[in-house]
Amino acid sequence: MKEALSRIALTAKADIAAAGNPAALEAARVKYLGKKGELTAILKGMGALSPDGRREIGQIANETRAAIEAELGSRLQELKSKELDARLLAERLDVTMPGTHHPMGGRHPIQLVLDELKEIFLGMGFDVVEGPEVETDYYNFEALNIPKDHPARDTQDTFYISDNVILRTQTSPVQIRTMEQRKPPIRVIAPGRVYRSDAVDATHSPLFHQVEGLVVDKGITMSDLKGTLDTFAKRLYGPETVTRFRPHHFPFTEPSAELDVMCFSCHGEGCRLCKGEGWIEILGCGMVHPKVLSICGIDPEEYSGFAFGLGLDRIVMRRYNIDDLRLLFENDLRFLTQF
Ligand code: DAH
Repeated sequence: MKEALSRIALTAKADIAAAGNPAALEAARVKYLGKKGELTAILKGMGALSPDGRREIGQIANETRAAIEAELGSRLQELKSKELDARLLAERLDVTMPGTHHPMGGRHPIQLVLDELKEIFLGMGFDVVEGPEVETDYYNFEALNIPKDHPARDTQDTFYISDNVILRTQTSPVQIRTMEQRKPPIRVIAPGRVYRSDAVDATHSPLFHQVEGLVVDKGITMSDLKGTLDTFAKRLYGPETVTRFRPHHFPFTEPSAELDVMCFSCHGEGCRLCKGEGWIEILGCGMVHPKVLSICGIDPEEYSGFAFGLGLDRIVMRRYNIDDLRLLFENDLRFLTQF
């Protein structure tokens, strides 16, 4: 038995030293110290010995066990620190290396101004809603009191998906969709892209942006329209801004008007910015036509409302002194990173 024990001590030592990872080390432990291990087998066989023999062998067996356990323990530490070294080496970070440059995106100037407009209208209790850019003839024209033969269609030629499905020429169809879906009181703005089949030049683009507005409630009058839009103009251009409402015609409002602000460059004298007018047109507006309310299932005897629509791109161009509309759509970073 003594020989067996010293042989076990030797082979165990060799096995443990040879274990290259924690799993191999565990296998070695089981091989010698496990329930069916070699050392355990010897301890089990000690019953057959004399009391003296048992004491002697028992002592050696315990020493052998303690030695094996100590070797297991120190080998485990060794393996762990090797593993850590390997990981530290693999994950080494050279903080002196130059960093990777991640260019930060920015908001497009149109988005910057739109965000500003949204903030102004949200502050006045408006919601922001959206409508589809691919629209039906019904929503884009018919329901807005622009029948097939109406001359207003001449200025709003667009792109046809089919006879009755088009790219919207204005955000006004969102008025109809909103009134179909919501009951008054309604207070919404609807920003978005609109399309017309115009040739591209410094002031025209087949794609541009509008912001629509709609208010419907009991007792809404022209003075609500004027008060709201005058407040809007002053928030956008400053408290000294002078506005004027000029009679106009839109098929879906009655009466209709256009809102001008006094030219902030020449203060009404006439200059290049206002093309000698002294005033700059900002938007179209009016009291929602009773016919339009009826079409949307709102009783014009009970409710009234006002609406407006503004061209966003021109406001952006004036805000940042951009003299060519095309710059807004070409996505040239040399231009865009200036904002
Ligand atoms: N949709 C009109 C256009 O594109 C703008 C407009 C005028 C909208 C008057 C309105 C409005 O809501 O009341 O020319």
